[in-house]
Amino acid sequence: MSNRTAFWIFILGTASSALLFIFLTVDMHRQVDALTNADKLTDDVVAGKKVWEKYNCNDCHTLLGFGGYYAPDMTKVYKRRGEDGIRFIVKEPEKAFAKSWRKMPKQNLSDAEINSLIAFLKWVSEINNGDWPPQDSDKRIANSALKLTAGAGVNLGMALLQDKGCLSCHNYKGVGDEDVPLEKAGEKYDAETLKKLIHNPQSVNKDASMPPQDGLSDAELETIVNFLKSKN
Ligand code: HEC
Ligand code: HEC
Repeated sequence: MSNRTAFWIFILGTASSALLFIFLTVDMHRQVDALTNADKLTDDVVAGKKVWEKYNCNDCHTLLGFGGYYAPDMTKVYKRRGEDGIRFIVKEPEKAFAKSWRKMPKQNLSDAEINSLIAFLKWVSEINNGDWPPQDSDKRIANSALKLTAGAGVNLGMALLQDKGCLSCHNYKGVGDEDVPLEKAGEKYDAETLKKLIHNPQSVNKDASMPPQDGLSDAELETIVNFLKSKN
């Protein structure tokens, strides 16, 4: 290859990449309002963003990949944990993560602040981010749980107990933490009560210290309850 050819490859390659980059940037900016549902940016959502900043949640958490890498990404946390789940975690992190080696501080937010924060996290969870970074939140049954069952002969119910963090507080036939065994739960309660106990424990017993698990999809809840009811 002559120097001249190399020169033109360099010039044309750089020019076409630059043009493509500029086009995609402009195109992205044209779509931002639609992708982020800008019309749903209510005062409450804006107030929630200020709460997020006031308490420096970003020091530990990321949103859309930005922030601290100490704690989980919160882009889709609204879908994962649901409203009651988030409220419980923010109010009583020491209960929600009683068994975790990672710590989240209790920052004593007011109820109004938590409500705005939830509105903000709901809005963020609806941003169309092209499923990148990939998240399980929208799936009927989390991919990460399905992976545990693949080829390994693990029951899907058991895989969900593991994947959804139940086993950090519970024990099933010797697996998990010894605190609250789950083998007998299927005999003690009917399916409806079990669903309530898991979905929102405080609705059955207001002093329950188990965090609400309302980020579970219907299919996941159904699978776990069937598993607990089955004699295996
Ligand atoms: C000092 C670091 C720190 C700060 C500040 C912090 N968190 Fe956390 N948070 C954590 C850790 C660590 C976890 C994960 C605990 C675990 O799973 O073991 C967590 C988990 C969570 C979860 C559950 C995440 C999931 O994936 O299900 C929510 C919701 C949450 N935090 C909300 C907040 C909010 C809202 C704020 C600000 C008011 C905040 N956090 C501030 C450390 C922090
Ligand atoms: C942070 C700890 C924690 C996590 C995570 C947790 N639980 Fe619990 N769970 C408890 C505690 C503690 C109790 C005992 C009642 C109470 O104080 O809430 C309980 C009670 C229960 C019961 C009633 C058991 C009985 O015999 O009365 C069921 C069923 C249950 N949990 C299922 C689940 C499932 C399914 C998950 C995961 C999706 C889960 N739990 C996640 C702490 C937890």
